[in-house]
Amino acid sequence: MGRVALVTGAGRGIGAAIASRLRADGCRVVGVDLAFDAGQGPAWVPLPGRAPAPPLGHDGESAPADDASGRAWSVTGDLADAAFRDDLVAAVVAAFGRIDVLVNNAGVSAAKRGDLLEVTPESWERVLGINLTATMFLTQAVARVMVAQEPVAGRRGDIVNLGSLNSWMASPDRVEYCVSKAGVSMLTSVFAARLAGDGVRVNEVRPGVIETAMTAVAHDKYSAMIEAGAFPIARWGRPADVADAVAVLCSTELAYTTGQVLHVDGGFHLPRL
Ligand SMILES: NC(=O)c1ccc[n+]([C@@H]2O[C@H](COP(=O)([O-])OP(=O)(O)OC[C@H]3O[C@@H](n4cnc5c(N)ncnc54)[C@H](O)[C@@H]3O)[C@@H](O)[C@H]2O)c1
Repeated sequence: MGRVALVTGAGRGIGAAIASRLRADGCRVVGVDLAFDAGQGPAWVPLPGRAPAPPLGHDGESAPADDASGRAWSVTGDLADAAFRDDLVAAVVAAFGRIDVLVNNAGVSAAKRGDLLEVTPESWERVLGINLTATMFLTQAVARVMVAQEPVAGRRGDIVNLGSLNSWMASPDRVEYCVSKAGVSMLTSVFAARLAGDGVRVNEVRPGVIETAMTAVAHDKYSAMIEAGAFPIARWGRPADVADAVAVLCSTELAYTTGQVLHVDGGFHLPRL
């Protein structure tokens, strides 16, 4: 049976591409989001959530079985809600018995880009609450499951966090987002250090400018930057580019690598002269 992968923010964009890719790689994928956009990601079927009744596999086992349909299991809810996060982890463990992969992809940008001197506590709390606090405590809850489960081929789990070029680059028009992503990068380091001895690797994928709903607000600006040569690989990034990187970090290929950052930004991070 395939590894059990929990992907947050899987309802559209990068998360949907990650869910599709991990499903195609043979994982049993559970996606979580506030809502699921039609036509994005694998063929979603609802996972029994708050009152977990394990769905029957085709062979009559209580855990969902692998099949060729490409289906994956969706859970709808708000990751900023601590009780929902606990229910989610309990429901996945009830259905599958383990969690092998966690991809912390759900995230929001500042609702309004604007002057640093005008940022409100409400906007700060919203972005930090979803991007950083929810990532911290979902990771903690899943890590508790991972360290307690039997290893498979020496691995208890793989965790991948979605950072951003704003993990290191200052954008004064969205301080909340920058600080949240810098925090996510540090979460990657501290969880990697803590969990390495338990057979759990923790790595970060750091996208540049990916064409999704999140970047639609600045589409013209980024297109002009790409045309002007700001990105050595002169095109928009695609959700599948990020999904490829996540798949590699969850594969058996990088068994001696943890706490690593994989830039998926067309070379944007390179200092150039
Ligand atoms: N698009 C880019 O250029 C880019 C660049 C760097 C990093 N990222 C990061 O990649 C990740 C995915 O971005 P995207 O471009 O696909 O964005 P997106 O807005 O298209 O998708 C994000 C998904 O997360 C979900 N989400 C947000 N808050 C949630 C919550 N409280 N509970 C559950 N789900 C929630 C949204 O509903 C949405 O489906 C984010 O963490 C983002 O910060 C994106």
